[in-house]
Amino acid sequence: MSSSLMPSLMIRSEVRQKVNDNKRGRYMFGKKKKQDTNLFEIIDLEKDSGDTVLDIGQNETETEHGVLIEFRDVCKKYSQGENEFYALKNANLTINEGEMVVILGPSGAGKSTLLNLLGGMDSASSGHIWFDGEDLTTYSDNRLTRYRAENVGVVFQFYNLIPTLTAYENVALMKDIKEGTTDPVEALSAVGLKEHMHQFPSQMSGGEQQRTSIARAIAKNPKLLLCDEPTGALDTGTGKEVLKLLQSMSKDRGRTVVMVTHNSFFADIADTVIRVKNGGIENIVHNDTPKNASEVFW
Ligand SMILES: Nc1ncnc2c1ncn2[C@@H]1O[C@H](COP(=O)(O)OP(=O)(O)O)[C@@H](O)[C@H]1O
Ligand SMILES: [Mg+2]
Repeated sequence: MSSSLMPSLMIRSEVRQKVNDNKRGRYMFGKKKKQDTNLFEIIDLEKDSGDTVLDIGQNETETEHGVLIEFRDVCKKYSQGENEFYALKNANLTINEGEMVVILGPSGAGKSTLLNLLGGMDSASSGHIWFDGEDLTTYSDNRLTRYRAENVGVVFQFYNLIPTLTAYENVALMKDIKEGTTDPVEALSAVGLKEHMHQFPSQMSGGEQQRTSIARAIAKNPKLLLCDEPTGALDTGTGKEVLKLLQSMSKDRGRTVVMVTHNSFFADIADTVIRVKNGGIENIVHNDTPKNASEVFW
């Protein structure tokens, strides 16, 4: 157990009462999907060749989606002397469980701010953020740490792997953060990296490093997978492999995937596209027939 998490564990029973007090009526959030079988039974990317072969099959999950996340008038404000600056202003949105969501917008629009609030990596200045029926904005720091550890996997543009650890060790670290994580070999196999698992980040290509970081995120089996410009440092072909992988996490495994990008072509693969501009949500569009990631060109 990592030392930074110890305080939150110690007060777990104490906060549970408060958490229960904060619980919102479940009826607000509709029914949950019934599937929650082995994470990797459908995604089996590692075929005989050892190459990444993405098996994006039919959607085997039920189509009934409950609401997982709701933002209500969420603001993130920074003060600079006497001036106030809103990185995000009055954001209202709903994300259903199992959805693939793309957050689009130009640089500086507030995309990462939105993602960081979703992931409990930042806290709102005002408003409410409901996750699975609980209001994150009422959480203590310790409870927010626990929320991140239990529910959120994050993939960043520059992978954020620990350079002195192998791919296997980078993924195995998740065991210290959450109980019941997936075996690292299984997680790395799922992203087609079993053959490379003893290599260090410096011995892997950008795409392999990003797939390692995805393996690390999904090893936690999180309800929410957040990705901030995950293909931003990759060439088109490698980026597409990463997109396929992320889409299949939602489509085949029913995970809720939220991806930030400035690439408007990615909108085609999303169930929901949230456009952000100047710190505000410009529009939210639902797409009944998202494309397969393999069909997207940019
Ligand atoms: N910690 C911070 N302090 C002050 N301003 C910030 C901070 N974080 C982000 N911002 C500002 O908020 C705006 C939105 O940032 P961000 O969400 O990172 O944009 P995006 O991800 O869309 O490029 C930017 O103008 C940025 O400079
Ligand atoms: Mg950003």
